[in-house]
Amino acid sequence: MSAVTKAVRRTVLSVVRRNPVPSSQLPEAATILSALPVAVVVLSEDNRFTFANSAAEQFLGISFPQLAQMSLDDILPEDSPLFLMVNQLRTGASSIADHDLSFDGPRLRKVGISVQGTTLAEDPGSVLLVLQDSTTVRSLDRQIAARNAARSITGMAAILAHEIKNPLSGIRGAAQLLESSVSENDRELPVLIRDEADRIRALVDRMEIFGEKPVTMEAVNIHRVLEHVRRLARSGFADTIRFSESYDPSLPPVWGNRDQLVQVLLNLVKNAADSLVASGAAEGEVTLITRYQHGLRLASPTADPDSRVDLPLLVTVRDNGPGIPDDIRPHLFEPFVSSKPSGQGLGLALVAKIIADHGGLIEVESRPGRTEFRLHLPMLAEEDDQ
Ligand SMILES: Nc1ncnc2c1ncn2[C@@H]1O[C@H](COP(=O)(O)OP(=O)(O)OP(=O)(O)O)[C@@H](O)[C@H]1O
Ligand SMILES: [Mg+2]
Repeated sequence: MSAVTKAVRRTVLSVVRRNPVPSSQLPEAATILSALPVAVVVLSEDNRFTFANSAAEQFLGISFPQLAQMSLDDILPEDSPLFLMVNQLRTGASSIADHDLSFDGPRLRKVGISVQGTTLAEDPGSVLLVLQDSTTVRSLDRQIAARNAARSITGMAAILAHEIKNPLSGIRGAAQLLESSVSENDRELPVLIRDEADRIRALVDRMEIFGEKPVTMEAVNIHRVLEHVRRLARSGFADTIRFSESYDPSLPPVWGNRDQLVQVLLNLVKNAADSLVASGAAEGEVTLITRYQHGLRLASPTADPDSRVDLPLLVTVRDNGPGIPDDIRPHLFEPFVSSKPSGQGLGLALVAKIIADHGGLIEVESRPGRTEFRLHLPMLAEEDDQ
C-alpha cells in the first residue's frame, strides 16, 4: 500500500512540476487512488491482495477486508492467463497489457477484460494491476462501425426505392395480365413472377425506412412503448413466450421518436423470440428492463461535434436463448447479416441507425442462456443545457 501511494504521489508530483501548485494543496495519493474510476489492485509477492480501490471492489464483487484475506488463486483457476502475466512481470517485464481476457473462476466470471500490469520499484515482487471491462469500449467501436454501415445503405435505399419500385410494379402488372390470359397449365410461371416481385417490393419497402427522412423528436414514455411492443409480440410472433418486466417507474421520458422506438424494440423482441422459438426452449423468456444510470456521455450525432449528450436512460431486452452465433457477432449490426433461413438481416442494421439518429448507444452481451441488448438513450435536455 505505501509503495502504491508513493508511486502515485510521484506521478502526481511530476505533473505538478509542470503546473506548479503547492504540493500541500494536493489530495493524498491514497484519496486519488480510491477515487479512480478504474479498478486497481496490488498483489504481494505471494499473490495476496494488499490493496484494492473501491472500483476494484465493485469490479470483483468482493470488499477489501475480504480480499485482504485472499489471494489470486482464491478467485481464479490456476491456468488463468493472469498468473502468466503476473509471473512475467516478476521475472523482468516492467509493464504488460493484455486484452480480451476471460476470467472463469469460482468467485469471478467475466469476459472481455483488459488488464494492465506493472511492477513497483519500491516493493520488489509486488505487482499493480489495472482491470477494465473492455466490452463498453469495444461496443463503442462497433457502434461507430454500425453507424457507417447504416449510412452507406441510406443512399442505396433511396436509389432502390426510386429505380426499382416503378419498373417492378410494371412487371407485376404484366404478370397479372398474363396470369388471367394463359391456360391453367401455364399459370405457374406468371404466379412465380408475381410472388417474386412482391418479395422484392417488401424488401425495398423495408430498405426505404433507412432513407434520411426528418423525424420529430418528443418526450416519449418508454414504458408505454414497451407495453405496446409486448402486446404486439404476444398477439403475434411471440405467443408462446413468457414475458417479464422490471421497470423503474420513476424513469423520465426518453427524448426520441415514438414510432421509431417501437420499431427498435419490436426488432429486438422479435430477434429474442426467434432465437427462443428456434432453440425450442421450453422455458423461453424475454425480460424487459428500464433503469436510470448516471455517467455515460457521447458526442452528439447532429449538433456541433464538441457537444455531448448524456445517456442516462437504460432500456434492456434480455432473453434466455442460446445466444448470438459466433460467426455473426463481429458483423451483428451490418445489413444483410443473418443466420435465419428467411431472415433479411435488416433488423439490427435498422436498430443501429435509429439509435444513432437518437444520439444513443447500443451494447450487446451474449452467452448461452443470456443475451442482452442494452439501449442507452437520451432524456429531455434540461433548460440550462440548451
Ligand atoms: N437475441 C438474439 N439471440 C440470438 N441471436 C440473435 C439475437 N438477436 C440477433 N441475433 C442474430 O443476429 C442476426 C441478425 O439479426 P437481424 O435482426 O439484423 O436480422 P434477422 O433477424 O436475421 O432478419 P430480419 O430482422 O431482417 O428479419 C440474426 O440472424 C441472429 O443470428
Ligand atoms: Mg431481426
